[in-house]
Amino acid sequence: MSQPLPEPSTSELLAGFEVVVGRPGAWESEAPHHLPGSDALVPTPRERVTEALLALAPRLKVVANCAVGTDNVDLDACRRRGVVVTNTPGVLTEATADLTWLLILAVTRRFREGDALIRSGSWDGWKPLELLGTSLDGRTLGVYGMGRIGKAVARRAEAFGMRVVGTVEGDPPEAFERLLAESDVLTIHAPLTPATRGRFGAPELARMKEGAVLVNTARGPVVDEPSLASALASGHLGGAGLDVFEKEPAVHPGLLGLPNVVLLPHLGSATTESRLGMARTACEEAARVLRGEEPRNRVA
Ligand code: DGY
Repeated sequence: MSQPLPEPSTSELLAGFEVVVGRPGAWESEAPHHLPGSDALVPTPRERVTEALLALAPRLKVVANCAVGTDNVDLDACRRRGVVVTNTPGVLTEATADLTWLLILAVTRRFREGDALIRSGSWDGWKPLELLGTSLDGRTLGVYGMGRIGKAVARRAEAFGMRVVGTVEGDPPEAFERLLAESDVLTIHAPLTPATRGRFGAPELARMKEGAVLVNTARGPVVDEPSLASALASGHLGGAGLDVFEKEPAVHPGLLGLPNVVLLPHLGSATTESRLGMARTACEEAARVLRGEEPRNRVA
């Protein structure tokens, strides 16, 4: 285990195995010590499982990633070495969709500025023109990646009176252009792959509607952060809600000072229920492979 997980997970599902638990942030120094003797590895999105690290783990049979995204794992290297890779789909769908709406609402209703005004002690009462946001009713929500989470976000859009346009992998280029051109709020739910890395760069952001809001609760590198900071600073985009970052945990400095940007530390799945579900799924998958059974959520 690269880090401690919510319990009961390891204690119950990996009883009978020797479990070594790493410390948050200590992966680079600890992995070389623990990998040579490990049969299974349970990393989180924070730890990268590279070809070089796999080379230190001749006994490794399974990487049971404690996440639905697997971009932190070199899947090809695992395939080459016959190491099974699993993920944790399903258990974090609704939590991530909820957090996406938190960001959409926080940006469009200027939550940060309102909260800051109260805390500054300078609010002197109701004003007709104070901190006006944007209504969502009748607007268009664009969903880049209509998978499990994208669909859960789209379902919630009905409650806010929004029209939904979405794309899936393999759509013709026109679908992506329509998404850029029509979305008042564009929310990203595609996994990070070579095809989606940098998908929202300066040219794409420029083709988005004037004043549109961009939300990302998927993976940071899908968006080119310096270009996003410029599009926001110039006023072309109306705001952004970001739960993930291109070079996590670093955040582009150009985003930090902007009042119309809401930033969260990768909290999409951060409910007690979802994080426990992820931990239990990952432990179950590791145990299945170690027992010689077929895992339920194999990605490689
Ligand atoms: C995932 O499961 O990939 C999420 O990013 C974790 O919050």
